[in-house]
Parts: sequence; structure tokens; C-alpha cells
Amino acid sequence: MPFNHKDLLGIEGLTAEEINLILDTSETFRDVNTRQIKKVPTLRGKTIINLFFEASTRTRTSFEIAAKRLSADAINISASTSSVVKGETLVDTAMNLQAMAPDAIVIRHFSSGAPHQIARIVKAAVINAGDGAHEHPTQALLDALTIRQNKGHIAGLKVAIVGDVLHSRVARSNVHLLVKLGAHVVLAGPRTLLPLGLERLIPQSPGSVAFVEDVDAAVADADVIMMLRIQLERMAGGFFPSLREYSIHYGLNRRRLERAKSDCIVLHPGPVNRGVEIDSDVADGPFSLILDQVSNGVAVRMAILYLLAGGGESVESKK
Ligand code: CP
Repeated sequence: MPFNHKDLLGIEGLTAEEINLILDTSETFRDVNTRQIKKVPTLRGKTIINLFFEASTRTRTSFEIAAKRLSADAINISASTSSVVKGETLVDTAMNLQAMAPDAIVIRHFSSGAPHQIARIVKAAVINAGDGAHEHPTQALLDALTIRQNKGHIAGLKVAIVGDVLHSRVARSNVHLLVKLGAHVVLAGPRTLLPLGLERLIPQSPGSVAFVEDVDAAVADADVIMMLRIQLERMAGGFFPSLREYSIHYGLNRRRLERAKSDCIVLHPGPVNRGVEIDSDVADGPFSLILDQVSNGVAVRMAILYLLAGGGESVESKK
């Protein structure tokens, strides 16, 4: 099955079959990452630009590693050291990068819709590495890969997504993906951090979406608990009384984790606010797959770069 998209702008525009194609392709590249020589010639001669207007450790590094393991040339641009600081617009930046003929532009931007704007004006494949509070599609894909590897399937699972849902592009992309693949998603957190009406915007089939304020109810019998980072940088204040109270009422600790299924897995996209949304003994404990998520991020990003910039040849013929 071909991947008939120029860009990856979000999960919302993908079918369940396309999501499974990306996950299956990621499995193939996971194997490359376990070899002694972690490099294949798949994207030799291709140029990938990472254009980041916001801070990143995991996403930027894993896109760079993914490009290099596929033998592409990877160039990293931070807005803070580019001509953006001299006032150059996003559109002018994109047009100038396009003039250097890249094959893909990976963009993280603080404004929702920025990757979509660039995708309309450049020939290169555009990959959304997180836009405002809108979507973070490759994060949802690596989360799904981690769940699928551990549980064997996604359909029918109860997935509790807990915390700052309002500001979370990770939550939005995950809800789209998990519902399309048949999971039952329960979003939980303080009422002030739960977006109103989100459940009406998302097709609730074959899975489902529910909202609760009570985190104990959300995690009860959960197969997967995904804790979200409190995004203090996107808050002007007043969403909850204090970090200590947030931790008591909404944080994941060992006592709360005991309410979930005995084989429940714990995910967090990172970076982790230890002692706020998750206690260290849970983040580092036996149910946590937080570092597996990071490892899977490389495989997922290799798959996306291959599917969008690889010219459509089979993975096997290019390895
Ligand atoms: N999960 C995630 O997007 O992490 P970074 O901000 O470090 O890229």
C-alpha cells in the first residue's frame, strides 16, 4: 500500500490503514537501530532540514539521527540563530530554504498551523514536529508503536491520558490516532486544563473518548496511562492553585498506579516534571516505558522520512 501524502501535518488526516503502514515500516527500521552499524543507504543524496522555532531534545535529535542513519544529509536550524531574529518572516524563511532544494523540511513552531502554511508553498515534504497546541503526529506514532509492541494491539485498550490536555498537542494527536485504531481514551485533569467540546470534534469510532476530572476514575483498570507534561510556558497563571496541589490531585504516584490493570504500562512524552505530574519512582519504575518511547522515536522518524522522501521504493530494496 503506497503512502499517498506529500506531507505529514497531523494524525487527523490519516486513515487507520495509513497509520498501520507507518507503524509496520517503523518496525522494519527498529531492526536497523539494533545493528552494530546503524546505517543504511536508503536516503543517500537526499537533504533534510530540521527547522525548530521551539526548544526540543527528543524530537530534534531523533529526526537528525533518523536522517543520518538513512544516509541523508541533515541540517539543523534553530530560529534563535537564524535570520528570524532579524525579522525574516516564516514564509520568507521557507521560500529561501526551498531555493536550496531540500527533500524534506521538519518544522516545530509555536503557532498552530505553521507547518500547513509552509507545506502550501514549498515542494519539499513538510513534517510537523509539533505546532502550538495543535498536533505532534510523530509523538503519537511513537507512542502507538510502544503500546503495540507491549500489548500486541491497540483496539479495545483503555488508555488514560492525564494532565494538561488543554495545551497538549501530544494529547490531540494521540486521541485522533488511538480512536482511529479502536482504543477507549479517557482524558483526565483539572477542569481548567480540559478543553471544552473536544469530544464532539473527534469521530468516536471505532474507539471512544470520554472526559473525567477524577484521575483515580480515569486510571482505574487502565491498560495504558499516558501522563502529560504541565506546560508552564503556555500558561499565564491561574489554571491550578500550586504545583504541590496539582501533584496530590492529578499526579501519578505508586498508590494511584495500583488502581490500573496489573500489567498497565506508563508513558510520558517528556520532558518530565518529576514530582509534579509523575513521581520519580513511577517514572523510573518497572511499568514505565518512557525511554522505550524515545528509542521508538528514531524508528518512527526513519519511517516517516523514508515514506515521504524515499521515492516509493520498497524498504527491503533500499537496505
Ligand atoms: N516529546 C517531545 O516532543 O520532546 P522534545 O520537546 O524534547 O522534542
